[in-house]
Amino acid sequence: MKIAVIGSTNIDVVSYIDKIPAGGETRAAQNFHTAHGGKGANQAVAAAKLGADVLMVSAVGDDLFGKGALENFRQNKIDTSRVSVIEGVATGEATIIVEASGQNRILLYKGANDKLTPELLMQAADDLKKCGLIVLQLEIPLETVYAAIDFANENKIPVLLNPAPAVKNLSIDMACKCDFFVPNETELGILTDMPVGSREEIKSAAQSLLSKGLKNITVTMGSQGALWLADGAEEFIPARKVQAVDSTGAGDSFIGCFVEHYSRTGDVLESIKRASLYATLSVTRKGTQNSYVGVDEFEKFCVSL
Ligand code: RIB
Repeated sequence: MKIAVIGSTNIDVVSYIDKIPAGGETRAAQNFHTAHGGKGANQAVAAAKLGADVLMVSAVGDDLFGKGALENFRQNKIDTSRVSVIEGVATGEATIIVEASGQNRILLYKGANDKLTPELLMQAADDLKKCGLIVLQLEIPLETVYAAIDFANENKIPVLLNPAPAVKNLSIDMACKCDFFVPNETELGILTDMPVGSREEIKSAAQSLLSKGLKNITVTMGSQGALWLADGAEEFIPARKVQAVDSTGAGDSFIGCFVEHYSRTGDVLESIKRASLYATLSVTRKGTQNSYVGVDEFEKFCVSL
């Protein structure tokens, strides 16, 4: 089954520092790199590295970063026939600061991602109809996300929405049209305006969305694990304890692994368990897509536990 990832492509400019500079302060970073990123691209690459057949629907600028991003997709065997190159526009860029704890802060310039309009999306309609799962995040225009959800529903294609980064005005009615809704706890708090400081609070906030008609919610909770709630299902999947060095893109690795496994097996709980392990492994390594391993290395990690 082919998986369509409709989402962002960025170039990530990443600095590793011991302490965030105060306003007006200059501090030396301990490490720096540029890398391929964007929530959509990261999810596509994670799924592809694990063996999924992925169609990427995205927009990049007509600059060196856009060329590099296309090459990166090809190297990961991702179908780029629906990645548009937008003239006169820069590729999306994310300035990322990673602290010693592994915690990250991201400043995003959407660039070409903002040009992925519903019209451009619909040019991929025939290819999308051949896909068995559609995956969405929120680094492209919200109207495009909504158009993709409606398209998925009309064509009976299951759709997963990862509401990241959080958008306060996300339509809960549109979220309810998704088969899978996968926020992290911060995004859940922003969407529901409810406290999410404890597991019980997270559960109440997630339940409040179920009571509004959401079918299926998985809340990723970083080093704690993940909570899955659906009609008749409630599971907490604790995360393995590891030494985190860089949490950037861990949520994306979770989604990529989840969709790869789910598209093959249809087993939601097992897909969440594997996704949790894959994300755990990713935080033990520096980088985003660089921290995503292929099938063999992932299997070795699973066996070693
Ligand atoms: O989720 C991590 C991603 O968020 C980074 O790769 C960066 O591009 C931002 O979009």
